[in-house]
Amino acid sequence: MSAFNLLPPQASTLAPAVDRLYLFLVAVSTVIVGIVVVLVLTYIIRYRHTVNADRRQPSLQNLPLEWGRIGTLAVVFLVIFFWGAGLYFRINSPPADAKVIYMIGKQWMWQVQHAEGVREIDTLHVPVGQPIKLVMTSQDVIHSVFIPAFRAKQDVLPGRYTALWFEATQPGEYHLFCAEYCGTHHASMVGKVVAMAPAAFASWLAQRGPEGARRTLATAGRAQFQRLGCMGCHGPQSAIRAPNLAGIYGKPQPLRTGEFVIADEDYLRESIYFPERKVVAGYEPVMPSFQGQISEAEMIEIIAYLKSLANRTSYDLPEEIRP
Ligand code: CUA
Repeated sequence: MSAFNLLPPQASTLAPAVDRLYLFLVAVSTVIVGIVVVLVLTYIIRYRHTVNADRRQPSLQNLPLEWGRIGTLAVVFLVIFFWGAGLYFRINSPPADAKVIYMIGKQWMWQVQHAEGVREIDTLHVPVGQPIKLVMTSQDVIHSVFIPAFRAKQDVLPGRYTALWFEATQPGEYHLFCAEYCGTHHASMVGKVVAMAPAAFASWLAQRGPEGARRTLATAGRAQFQRLGCMGCHGPQSAIRAPNLAGIYGKPQPLRTGEFVIADEDYLRESIYFPERKVVAGYEPVMPSFQGQISEAEMIEIIAYLKSLANRTSYDLPEEIRP
């Protein structure tokens, strides 16, 4: 690394686009400050005390100047608006094929759960050249994940999932910060992102994977599902008491209120912790809350399990991730 950098390295697909807008804003500001400085200096010299200048009231009418000023500013601000809005939508629209990695913030560490079953603390390994979508929640207070080299930042909130996506372009190690004051050791809530070539990432996963048994997030979630006795009500046999959960992920669910809700991560989490809030049409609000019985980490496993059943009609895990 060179001794002095104005900006962190550009290590994601979005980084150059964010920097271009940022530099444009700096350039516009510089031009305006430059105009002000030049005018101040010009008038200081032209109207200084000892000079016998024309000091009569100038005419207050100059329509071409007024319209020119209004028009120029309007164009500049509209350029900033459309440019910024376009970038905002890009930053907030993860590609559909993005690889999902779950992350939990807690005082004061980052806990990462890969779909393949690997867990890590304060370190996030990702492959380069593939869009990654972090699905995140907090176990206590508000945190914020910030990866300067990727120009990526997103608040991590207790009680809901937020997402952040990026695609790393260069292998290397990059800072991972908490960017929201979250208590005494906020400053030490730092880690690193390790971006690796896809082959190196695959072998890292294989090495770190749980010995022998393929305990993926989904299989772990299936074990939770059995441990908690979810099958007792949600099983195919007992569909009178509770809906079958196979195949619901990502699809609209009709509620008793007549509304529809997409069965995404947030809805599943909410329905497990607060079952009475959004009851599915045709069922009674009889499910007990599992608050206090399921940690956020276990919740992510259960959601990964239900997600793996997205295109199925039974509770069997899909072939490719069966242990
Ligand atoms: Cu977590 Cu600051």
